[in-house]
Amino acid sequence: MEHSLSPVMHNAAFAELGIDCVYVSFRVLPRWLRDAVRGLRSQGILGFNVTFPHKIEIVRHMQKLDQTAERIGAVNTVLNAEGELVGYNTDGVGAIEALKQNGVDLSDSSFTILGAGGAARAIVFALAEKATRIHVLNRTFRKAERLKREVKRKLRKDIEVAPLSKKWLTQTLSATNVLVNATSVGAGAEPRGSFMNELHLDRAMTVFDIVYGGPESTLLQKARQQGCKTIPGIEMLLYQGASAFEIWTGRGAPIETMRMALANHERQ
Ligand code: ATR
Repeated sequence: MEHSLSPVMHNAAFAELGIDCVYVSFRVLPRWLRDAVRGLRSQGILGFNVTFPHKIEIVRHMQKLDQTAERIGAVNTVLNAEGELVGYNTDGVGAIEALKQNGVDLSDSSFTILGAGGAARAIVFALAEKATRIHVLNRTFRKAERLKREVKRKLRKDIEVAPLSKKWLTQTLSATNVLVNATSVGAGAEPRGSFMNELHLDRAMTVFDIVYGGPESTLLQKARQQGCKTIPGIEMLLYQGASAFEIWTGRGAPIETMRMALANHERQ
């Protein structure tokens, strides 16, 4: 069984609502993904989550895709609807809920998202439906450009994109209220020359780092020292999990129980 925080919060939620289900996690190597999915389906399992590195590859094994998952091109939550696997993506809603619950006014903020990978795509698509000022900076610029084109085509919304360079960071952050790190960089010490060392944070900014697990990320430490409001990645884990829970069970997720289970686990 693999180390993951999801069983902690989902099992606490099942217990709270008296639902006779159990959440377990397994490591699946990419070459076994197809067999793993078939196995889950044939055993009538209610649903499951998929995470790195399977979120895109899993799409081809779904019988149906929810509109959000289709837009993003990635799935993190699967519902087994009597043998028909339906793919959802709750990462975007999870991030939006984490922002809202932490006091961010979506329509009145200017956002900068760092990254254009799977997680960033989910966040940008969800945010573009609610916010008007979105900048995306990514190391590989063409991925950011592709995201801009897709958001325009699928949502008819405009976002700004730029390379993740010192020049663009400085320029973009000067007009940013909410910074979201959706790159996989952040846990542990930063390598020399990392973009993290180029960030100039204003204390009026809210900083959200989706990296979770382990000690506080370098970005959040820096943000806290600057006096910024910070949102840790565990908040996104919590709200994407709550949304998945609701898809599987059709019942409202007991958020506080889930939050407490995660906090207790972190303290151990
Ligand atoms: P996830 O599903 O977690 O989003 P991903 O799709 O592999 O994972 O995306 C990782 C993101 O982190 C990408 O935006 C990646 O930038 P590239 O598109 O240029 O690869 C970004 N990333 C990873 N390592 C990075 C680094 N050292 N510096 C800057 N960005 C980095």
